[in-house]
Amino acid sequence: MGKIMLEVRDLKTKYITRFHEDVYSVDGVSFTIEEGKSLGVAGESGCGKSTLALSVLGYYFPPLHYRSGEIIIDGRNISGMDPDTVRRTILGTEIAYIPQAAMNALNPTMKIIRFIEDVIRVHDPKAEKAAIREQAEARFAELGLPREVLDKHAVELSGGMKQRTVIAISTILSPKVLIADEPSSALDVTSQKMVIKMMRELMEKGYIKSMMFITHELPLLYNVTDDIMVMYAGQIVEKGSAKEMVFDPMHPYSHGLMGSILVPEEGTRGTTLTAIPGTPPNLKKPPQGCRFAERCKYAKPECRYTGIPERFFGDNGTRMYRCLMGVDELKEVYSHE
Ligand SMILES: Nc1ncnc2c1ncn2[C@@H]1O[C@H](COP(=O)(O)OP(=O)(O)OP(=O)(O)O)[C@@H](O)[C@H]1O
Ligand code: SF4
Ligand SMILES: [Mg+2]
Repeated sequence: MGKIMLEVRDLKTKYITRFHEDVYSVDGVSFTIEEGKSLGVAGESGCGKSTLALSVLGYYFPPLHYRSGEIIIDGRNISGMDPDTVRRTILGTEIAYIPQAAMNALNPTMKIIRFIEDVIRVHDPKAEKAAIREQAEARFAELGLPREVLDKHAVELSGGMKQRTVIAISTILSPKVLIADEPSSALDVTSQKMVIKMMRELMEKGYIKSMMFITHELPLLYNVTDDIMVMYAGQIVEKGSAKEMVFDPMHPYSHGLMGSILVPEEGTRGTTLTAIPGTPPNLKKPPQGCRFAERCKYAKPECRYTGIPERFFGDNGTRMYRCLMGVDELKEVYSHE
């Protein structure tokens, strides 16, 4: 087993809304990412993927609040650290973050080099302009980005170039963990491929040591990440290697999601995600038993009131899923579909 870059233990966070209602969007999430590895996070809209990203970063600005659990980056426990300290000491160097729709949030009045200056100066306030430019030009060249981009404004860049630039800015300080929230969504296919290629290069060239990649596009995860975890209603319902998760999903929710994804090189068919009838539960009052019970074809009465155990199986127990049904029982029902 490689060195663990990110360890998250039983993390629980919540939003406190204007009307003082709590939304339990991350509710007992645990996982690790080793050095050199990437973890994909999949799940329908509203299942808590972006909240998990913010929660793991320690970015607790209202309405998001920490409840309990631990976040350990390369052996350093950052749980409970105040968000300003996180920003000044961790963000960019230990852990970097590309928020959902980041490229559209770039200040249009600033040249790209100014964003890079800002990122570097949080950690090195006296950094000289010339040295920053040299560092930025070298990194851009390594990542195949034209150096002219540094003197442009975001509005002058195409969508794909803008997103690759955002990724280069966020990782300029070579963080140990990169959390990318839907980095290739809303791009055309060619730009999407270039973004994915760049993320791979960042890892291969050692500019990032590990990555958490969030998307609702499952086929992408199969091609990009080593492992995948599926999130549903604030919890992880299944984890495994990308291949296992795509070809042998165990939890009824992952089984439904993975049902018809396109994995061309493996010769499987289908282009879109299977639509699972129904909608996820209200996270203000999560169901007592299995959170997927309302939509599960195999739900039994006890699923609605029993605590649902995490079950481990596979090589060295590395596969996990959260369901009352055993592996053999699930394989049996799936074989009749
Ligand atoms: N600022 C907020 N205040 C209150 N509730 C929020 C807030 N942001 C998100 N939520 C709720 O938290 C839950 C998880 O939302 P989140 O944005 O993390 O989902 P997601 O999986 O990233 O969805 P998407 O795929 O659409 O990006 C949802 O029920 C959402 O309504
Ligand atoms: S615990 Fe029950 S309802 Fe939940 S996924 Fe398993 S079979 Fe379905
Ligand atoms: Mg999101």
